[in-house]
Amino acid sequence: MPHRSNARPAQPFLKWAGGKGQLLAQYEAFFPTNPGGTYFEPFVGSGAVFFHLQPRGLFKRYVLSDSNAELVNLFRVVRDQPEALLEHLRQHAERHSAEYYYAVRARDRSPDWSAAPALERAARMLYLNRTCYNGLWRVNSQGHFNVPQGRYRNPDIYRPERIRAASRALQTVEIDVQRFDAVLDQAQTGDFVYFDPPYVPVSDTANFTSYEAEVFGEAEQRRLAEVFATLAARGCRVMLSNSDTPLVHDLYAGFRIERVLARRAINSKAVRRGPVYEVVVLSE
Ligand SMILES: C[S@@+](CC[C@H](N)C(=O)[O-])C[C@H]1O[C@@H](n2cnc3c(N)ncnc32)[C@H](O)[C@@H]1O
Repeated sequence: MPHRSNARPAQPFLKWAGGKGQLLAQYEAFFPTNPGGTYFEPFVGSGAVFFHLQPRGLFKRYVLSDSNAELVNLFRVVRDQPEALLEHLRQHAERHSAEYYYAVRARDRSPDWSAAPALERAARMLYLNRTCYNGLWRVNSQGHFNVPQGRYRNPDIYRPERIRAASRALQTVEIDVQRFDAVLDQAQTGDFVYFDPPYVPVSDTANFTSYEAEVFGEAEQRRLAEVFATLAARGCRVMLSNSDTPLVHDLYAGFRIERVLARRAINSKAVRRGPVYEVVVLSE
């Protein structure tokens, strides 16, 4: 083992809607403590739960996935080319201005964008995430990123220690672009699966959340509940986060449902601010 006494613990390198950082302490009682199997996280987002659990060394293998191809590309570049990524980020940081932000944002409108190198795409995503409004990742129906610049006086774009620590944590990790139900082809008895989907909206006025150009609606929530039940019946340990809503209680009736308190409204459109309950569903 390399000597790592001065290595910082890894943390998420992205701000991400629904990031689980603030809930980790309350989740502690629900995380597995006995070693074994593979860790699957099919809605990985910023990976807050993965980065929290990985240092414990409980699992033999880690498989992370998300349907957002830009996000998965960024994770792979952080894993495989951290120094080259940092060099790109240093250049973005040096050139950052409102005009530069909008030029970088417009890059996905150019005809050669689909052939852009993985490194360029990854650095662009991270740069936009650090400088856009609220770290939001939103694309229009053509797949073009359309979030305005955020109001940060000094956005922290170049964070070498954070990228290097994340890269170390990801070294042996598999990261794929796939929809959540692909986990059915992979997870076996004894594996642990953590699902953190876009939430069921908390009020009638809030809409089902849109990530990328794709909507995660009631049909997907129902499909996810089927996948959860299939994995549980197979002997996987399954954990899922969602809102504390009648649909969620209905979909997971028969499983253990625990309430946790989140500090902020889970949907930016919700009128409610301040603490709201969410739930964690557990297969055992
Ligand atoms: C609530 S976020 C996960 C947040 C993550 N736990 C964190 O701490 O940052 C939900 C994620 O699901 C992804 N997603 C949306 N629909 C999906 C689908 N059908 N299959 C897989 N991932 C999907 C989104 O790209 C997003 O990253």
